[in-house]
Amino acid sequence: MIDPWASSSVDYEKLVNQFGIKKFSDILDDIEEPLPLMKRGVIFGHRDFDKMIPFINNHKDFAVVTGMMPSGKMHIGHKMVVDQLKWYLDKGGKLSLPIADMESYGARGMDFTQAKELAINEYLANYIALGLDLTDDNVLIYLQSQHTPVKDLAFELSKKTNFNELKAIYGFNPSTSISHVYVPLVQVADILLPQIEEYGGPKHVVVPVGVDQDPHIRLTRDLADRFKSQFGFIPPASTYHRFLTGLTGGKMSSSEPKTAIYLNDSPKIAEKKVKSAKTGGRESLEEQKKLGGCPDSCVVYEMLVYHLIDDDSELQKIYENCKNGTLLCGECKLMTAEKMKNFFEKLDEKKESSLEIAKTLL
Ligand code: TRP
Ligand code: SF4
Repeated sequence: MIDPWASSSVDYEKLVNQFGIKKFSDILDDIEEPLPLMKRGVIFGHRDFDKMIPFINNHKDFAVVTGMMPSGKMHIGHKMVVDQLKWYLDKGGKLSLPIADMESYGARGMDFTQAKELAINEYLANYIALGLDLTDDNVLIYLQSQHTPVKDLAFELSKKTNFNELKAIYGFNPSTSISHVYVPLVQVADILLPQIEEYGGPKHVVVPVGVDQDPHIRLTRDLADRFKSQFGFIPPASTYHRFLTGLTGGKMSSSEPKTAIYLNDSPKIAEKKVKSAKTGGRESLEEQKKLGGCPDSCVVYEMLVYHLIDDDSELQKIYENCKNGTLLCGECKLMTAEKMKNFFEKLDEKKESSLEIAKTLL
């Protein structure tokens, strides 16, 4: 069982082999101008994404849904989602961005006022600063708790969902509160909303998420089937990205400051954090010169791959020079830290104006 409300480590191979998630690399060649995240295997899996590629390539009739649950601070790993959303918006997709305040209330016990403030100050402001135009006509943002169509749809969908099914998927037990039990239904409704008549009727929809969200995706696809005759739903597609490794080697987590570079860190702090990150370097200099480093298990290299280098050949060179022992970790870290600092300086410049825009959105 995958528990969307627990943090655990992930075996990506197993997910592809046992849970019916398909390999993204098999369909990569069909996508026009794929994102670096796609080419580099950061987005590693999908369900039914092949079916929507023609629509994306033709820039028409598709939608993207991804929610944000206001729970804590955003870290640099969250940038991955924003990069994907920008790409889909450029490709002519409609974006639907629910703010999951019913989830943060039902599953985390956060009150609605606090959730709204966090959504504006932390999530929306950073999304804008990262370059996503949330004022675009193709973007819909709403708070679950204040959006009647989504709440109506969730209730309607709940008619064909029973407790045993949710218990089997999420491990709910007799003392789980009903609000928590109801949370997945609201998310299913978020994902199916672009297909109801009010939003233009049935269409291809993709949900770009981390694998922790897959239980919700499977439930959504089942319910889309059960309500097909009534709404004409097309089962939504999904893509799955790897989680960013934390600075200490485990998963990057908002609630563990030692592991994360927060988007609200200052450029100086971000730079310093890169310098403190775990590398794939050897015990001694001699050894590294002789054997080379291990970029595949290096947090610093991962930052370059996920966030800091667009040019594939530049990246390739670093990979090779690390492996053949001509690039050493000290130099490599300095270069990466400098790139990170520059990235944060640019982000910083946009913070104030982004926050002003964010305040007008909800
Ligand atoms: N459950 C998601 C999270 O924890 C947030 C979310 C709400 C969501 N609605 C969604 C994600 C719809 C994808 C699609 O972050
Ligand atoms: Fe990582 Fe760079 Fe060291 Fe290679 S040289 S292990 S990529 S920090």
